[in-house]
Amino acid sequence: YLSLDFMRFLTGIKPTGFPHLGNYFGAIEPAIRLQAEGEAFYFIADYHAMTTVHDAKLLEEYVHEVALTWLACGLDPERAVFYRQSSVPEVQELTWYLSTVTPMGMLERCVSYKDAIAKGQPATHALFTYPVLMAADILLYHANVVPVGQDQKQHLEVTRDIANKFNDTYKKVLTIPEPRIQEHVAKVPGLDGQKMSKSYDNTLQLFGSAKQFKKRVMGIKTDSTPVEDPKPTEDSSLIDLYKLVATSEEVDAYTAQFTAGGVGYGDLKKQLLEKLNGAFAEMRERYESFAQRPDDVRDILKAGAERAQSEAAKTLDAVRAAVGTKPQD
Ligand code: ADP
Ligand code: TRP
Repeated sequence: YLSLDFMRFLTGIKPTGFPHLGNYFGAIEPAIRLQAEGEAFYFIADYHAMTTVHDAKLLEEYVHEVALTWLACGLDPERAVFYRQSSVPEVQELTWYLSTVTPMGMLERCVSYKDAIAKGQPATHALFTYPVLMAADILLYHANVVPVGQDQKQHLEVTRDIANKFNDTYKKVLTIPEPRIQEHVAKVPGLDGQKMSKSYDNTLQLFGSAKQFKKRVMGIKTDSTPVEDPKPTEDSSLIDLYKLVATSEEVDAYTAQFTAGGVGYGDLKKQLLEKLNGAFAEMRERYESFAQRPDDVRDILKAGAERAQSEAAKTLDAVRAAVGTKPQD
């Protein structure tokens, strides 16, 4: 499992809302590129989403939306094992075994927990043990490379600590994963210039209605420079968004219109809109096509869950033997 020519990438995507451009450039697109480099396990972390989503219908809706999004964006279900976390409930059993070697202090130090509490989220047990479940997600499948954003780095350290403690306490059966921190990915600005995020209501949804998308792009916050004057190019959300989907020559031509003056923000936004629509046209078509075939989406997730489950069964077998809960027959 530890050999470097065996790369098993694993990452979880929380279904907590409608995916936006930030999610695409920051997480989806890089993960899709990794499919070519090794074995990919990508799952919809619905158990984790339940730390904030307490509405069954809404959870189902978000899970479906996230599934459609990944498939539309190019996840290849032949290459990647794509599944819903709760379809392999064995992860909960492993969570328990891991929790027997997890010090309280380690979880108390987790910044994500402290942040959530500080933001007024109720201090539930699920929120507190979130990192143990995340460790189980990874360890159940012997993933050795976990692509995540900077904010998940501490959770990966916790995972490694827990795995080492388990291996020392019981028996050496768990693979120690390496994080692959995606630092170089673009930080996508939202409509208000802050980081695009569901929590700030400043997102451009990847697959919302065309009308709504246009309205949102036309609503990007700009300053009040008159049409004829040159416009600032530093920290321009318009230019930063344009850069995500254009060649450097195109970016230069777009930026030149800012410096020259004579082109209004309305016009510049229309150009951006066109560019974005072009970049996502094919994905939107695929999205519509999958949206019309919910049975196919279900089948893909089911097949993924079966592949995941057979891996999980092997790991749990070894883990149960290590801890002393293996059924005798
Ligand atoms: P949100 O902030 O909208 O709740 P999440 O925290 O669910 O988004 O993020 C899911 C993934 O998308 C993470 O890997 C995160 O790093 C990435 N991501 C979210 N927003 C952005 C952004 N504005 N720019 C780049 N990556 C982002
Ligand atoms: N905690 C991750 C997030 O908030 C989602 C996640 C759950 C995850 N389980 C995982 C990521 C396992 C990587 C590996 O984005």
